[in-house]
Amino acid sequence: MTNIQVQLARQPEGNPKASDFQVMKTPMPKVGAGQFLARNIYLSLDPYMRGAIAGRHMGHQRLNQGDVIYGRCVAEVMESQHAEYNAGDIVVLESGWQQFYVSDGGHADEVRKVDPGLGAPLSAHIGALGMPGLTAWAGVEKLANPGLGSTFVVTAAAGPVGGTAGQIAKAKGARAVGIAGSDEKCRIVVEEYGFDACVNYKNKNWTDDLKAACPNGIDTYFDNVGGPVLDAVTQQLNLYGKIVLCGLMSQYNRGADNAFNGHNMGPFVGKRAQLMGLVVYDYYNRMNEFMKAVAPLVNAKRLKFHEDRANGIERAPEHFVKLMNGQNTGKALVVIGPEKA
Ligand SMILES: NC(=O)c1ccc[n+]([C@@H]2O[C@H](COP(=O)([O-])OP(=O)(O)OC[C@H]3O[C@@H](n4cnc5c(N)ncnc54)[C@H](OP(=O)(O)O)[C@@H]3O)[C@@H](O)[C@H]2O)c1
Repeated sequence: MTNIQVQLARQPEGNPKASDFQVMKTPMPKVGAGQFLARNIYLSLDPYMRGAIAGRHMGHQRLNQGDVIYGRCVAEVMESQHAEYNAGDIVVLESGWQQFYVSDGGHADEVRKVDPGLGAPLSAHIGALGMPGLTAWAGVEKLANPGLGSTFVVTAAAGPVGGTAGQIAKAKGARAVGIAGSDEKCRIVVEEYGFDACVNYKNKNWTDDLKAACPNGIDTYFDNVGGPVLDAVTQQLNLYGKIVLCGLMSQYNRGADNAFNGHNMGPFVGKRAQLMGLVVYDYYNRMNEFMKAVAPLVNAKRLKFHEDRANGIERAPEHFVKLMNGQNTGKALVVIGPEKA
């Protein structure tokens, strides 16, 4: 038996290309004492991977040619010589872009067992109930805490972070307004996620549309993109408004020598804005609290999510390229194998 891996072929320059990756057949890894063999089922594709591959993301070393690409998966334990894991356990772990992985269950693999009693779809554990959902929950509940009747705006609103953030804000009684890059994304945001409105920022007069969607101004802006959109939304922020700085999607494909030139901070001062940087790693110790709050909403289908799936590990490179070009609609993931072997 072989293990198909996606490895780095060359460091991407600018927007990644499928040819930056190589799909290789390698021998099946062997399980030793204190280890278990995991069969990856769902691979999460996330924007941070662009920086991680280049060694620009915290805790990730720059990859070289032949290295397996970083990635978090939902996986099944196939064989175990580890005291805490048994064959048949479903886990979420850092097992990379490949079919099989041997883990020692240590910190570097960030292994988390999935509670079979939860009932949520397994793929949700890399989406609304995984790292993106935890990010959304932390930004809304622990940082912004939007008040009843306040206006909450979020970018990349069709994605797992933005979509979850807006729905949590709405569940807290805020008015949720999304910003997204196509009419279809906006339709999903309003009709499926239940936001009050969504504005397509690719339309020429989108800032007027935003004004119309936020007649009382913006109290909280959950920023997933940075760049000129952050500046434009800040213009409509209410005095003492809050900005959660979560992501910089407009910048990730730029190399170090082509960085964004920066923002004029004047409007942030004029608005007396509270800028709050968010790093999800600070909240992993609150996973149980997050699960307790959000899993029931997912199970009851009160918190909705949309997935953008590709089938087969070989398709991971092109699917990642699609994500980094903003062409994904919903949580980008790769189905590597069936839920039941
Ligand atoms: N701070 C943290 O700890 C943390 C943790 C997780 C994720 N994040 C960040 O949260 C953001 C959303 O993550 P996600 O996983 O939910 O991703 P996602 O929304 O599924 O995908 C990213 C989206 O960004 C939008 N986008 C805006 N400008 C873009 C550009 N110039 N190029 C490409 N895409 C662009 C696209 O949507 P539109 O077409 O709607 O613009 C794209 O679909 C990302 O910035 C991510 O890095 C931060």
